[in-house]
Amino acid sequence: MHKASKLSGFYKLSPEKRLKIVRELAGLSKEEAELLRKTGALELKQANRMIENVIGTTELPLGVATNFLINNRDYLIPMAIEEPSVVAAASNAAKMARSGGGFFTESTPPIMVGQIQLTDVKNPKKAREKILKAKKRILAKANEQDPILVKLGGGAKDIEVRVLTTHLGPMTIIHLLIDVRDAMGANVINTMCEAVAPLIEELTGGRVFLRIVSNLATYRLARVKAVFTKEALGGEEVVDGILQAYAFAAADPYRCATHNKGVMNGIIAVALATANDTRALEAGAHTYAAMGGAYKPLTHWERTVEGNLSGRIELPVAVGTIGGATAVHPVAKICRKILGVQSARELGEVMATVGLAQNLAAMRALATVGIQAGHMKLHARNIATTAGAKGELIDKVAARLVEERKIRLDRAKEILVELTRKK
Ligand code: MEV
Repeated sequence: MHKASKLSGFYKLSPEKRLKIVRELAGLSKEEAELLRKTGALELKQANRMIENVIGTTELPLGVATNFLINNRDYLIPMAIEEPSVVAAASNAAKMARSGGGFFTESTPPIMVGQIQLTDVKNPKKAREKILKAKKRILAKANEQDPILVKLGGGAKDIEVRVLTTHLGPMTIIHLLIDVRDAMGANVINTMCEAVAPLIEELTGGRVFLRIVSNLATYRLARVKAVFTKEALGGEEVVDGILQAYAFAAADPYRCATHNKGVMNGIIAVALATANDTRALEAGAHTYAAMGGAYKPLTHWERTVEGNLSGRIELPVAVGTIGGATAVHPVAKICRKILGVQSARELGEVMATVGLAQNLAAMRALATVGIQAGHMKLHARNIATTAGAKGELIDKVAARLVEERKIRLDRAKEILVELTRKK
């Protein structure tokens, strides 16, 4: 359990000092802290076992978002991302969310869908009946594939059969509904689908082609809500601006794609930090956003009677805390420890929270000062450092560069000389 996540001035510290704080709060061992510090934490021999034709590894900056209060518990959130401002924006939104008591989450059980495509049956409706009648047998065959999962309370739980009209004629699509517990689940789902396919053929006389997980995990949803007071956001006008931004996204797919991209900035950064499948998350989220027949925002925003801003998000989050790369990647294991999550469900809820926070921060910036101000701040600090500024001079030089809207190395050098002389 973390003691705190509200760490004022964290962003001003050196990476070493930040790591020291995170190490203490998350109870990391010396070795774990060392591993985070060094580059090349994922060894070539480990990488070589993960994918084919390995020639090296690649790295991303790993940051920690602060201030997250979720269900009255403090969380430090590791985020791996190449884009500036994302970690700062999440931390800032989480700070504002505290004005309304933080974030509150819930989720559905970790049930995923495995699809089996049945063709060449004379009467798809009759085939459907036969399959449903043999449900027990099919589920038993599926569950034979993973007794440990079943022992843990997971496994194939139910069957759905849909008859689809396609340009190649009717198809009978069988869904295996599988509780994957703390795994992302794709592996066990694919294994179970492949195992029951011959039985489906035998029962129906048809021919099975595809047997594969669906990334539209509509049974595995995470939901989050939060209230941001108008005072914390900067006043009624800011609330107005955010609601305008939301209305724009809800009415226009061109804007909505970017709106949802902002949501995914947060979710994917946590997914990368914990070695989860980012493509599965993106596919699921965007398809879920279009479920009603039009592409819509993943978040929903409204004004409360008190004039505050209430936000919520709901999306499929197929992530794991065991198995696959999450079990192999050494940094992912440490990131899970920093998060302190106990289950895949909890991880999914935390990710959805970061998505909601990210969206709020983006809309607030866009509806007020614009998105570039935040980007420029970090850029200005980098330029100030490159110009030779150290310690408190970094922020002073950076502030002047932003104020003058001249984020250039030559100007940073001039300001540095000026400030050093004054000192
Ligand atoms: C940039 O990575 C994300 C934003 O474009 C999201 C948005 O526009 O809402 C800022």
